[in-house]
Amino acid sequence: MISDNIDKAVEILNNNDLVAIPTETVYGLAGNIYCEEAVSKIFEIKNRPFFNPLIVHIHSIKQLDELTNYIPPKAQLLADAFWPGALTLVLKKNSKVPNIITAGKDTVAIRMPNHPTTLALLEQLNFPLAAPSANPFGCISPTKAIHVEEYFGNSLQMVLEGGDCKNGIESTIIGFESDMPVLYRLGAISIEDIEKAIGTVKIINTRENIAPDAPGMLEKHYAPLTSTYLESDIEAAIKSFSNKKIGLLLLSKKINNPQIVHQEILTEHGDLQEAATNLYAALHVLDKLNLDVIIAERLPDIGLGKSINDRLERATKK
Ligand code: TXA
Ligand code: MG
Repeated sequence: MISDNIDKAVEILNNNDLVAIPTETVYGLAGNIYCEEAVSKIFEIKNRPFFNPLIVHIHSIKQLDELTNYIPPKAQLLADAFWPGALTLVLKKNSKVPNIITAGKDTVAIRMPNHPTTLALLEQLNFPLAAPSANPFGCISPTKAIHVEEYFGNSLQMVLEGGDCKNGIESTIIGFESDMPVLYRLGAISIEDIEKAIGTVKIINTRENIAPDAPGMLEKHYAPLTSTYLESDIEAAIKSFSNKKIGLLLLSKKINNPQIVHQEILTEHGDLQEAATNLYAALHVLDKLNLDVIIAERLPDIGLGKSINDRLERATKK
């Protein structure tokens, strides 16, 4: 059920069950980090492998002390600069953080989401919330309450309504090696903006080179059920799929071609933030049209364009 009743969400979470929560990035599937029953249910409902750790959501920087005994200086700078916001920090965990959350790792991923409904919810709880994106493992992430309802309708008591997600793609994840920042996942805050705040970040999580400390980054992910391709030359790609029903995911300009059944434009004015906001909703629309193929346009490889290309590369991995 989709509802904006925060008190009801508090009640469900206090009863060790799950609630889907809105954040500024994507909707999350949330449960009490200290309740094994709730956390197991998150993995079960999502069909998520247990080796893939969860992000812990908090409502104030002070709550970090509950989860870790050590905050690297650059992690503190990042938290001060970007929280609440779409940045996840991977820090050494303390002994209170259950191993099921971290998949047995000695680090824990933490973020303070920038969404008024979810911040209000977290303030009323005596525990942080573990929340992966609220989609079955590998599928397109949800940016509207209705996406979550369509995925999990019957197995979930409540989707907390928080409107459309403003950022539209998952948080950027930064870990630390001997206090030096390392990028684990491109995301809603561009690497350029992060480097403005703390200087150079080691970038090892590219498609060719996966950060060994970031489990869950390898697999095909964010993927429509329809066969999807990422291309720079859209006209050439259309030619290679003659006699097929084609849908297009384009940055800003529509294409005139009778073979095209439907086109989704991410941003009319070439604004990459707007493109990120619209990305998953456009993929959800295209995936429902019974197309033979979706062809997505490769975006400029700068700022959020990099993060969007990363998601589209994983979505189109064969
Ligand atoms: O924007 C977001 O981050 C959303 C919203 C709901 O907060 N959440 C999200 O969660 O994207 P999920 O589970 O879909 O992705 C979490 C990623 C996974 O790739 C996981 O491997 C990584 O975070 N992660 C979690 N704990 C980690 C750790 N200790 N070390 C390295 N990577 C970690
Ligand atoms: Mg996810």
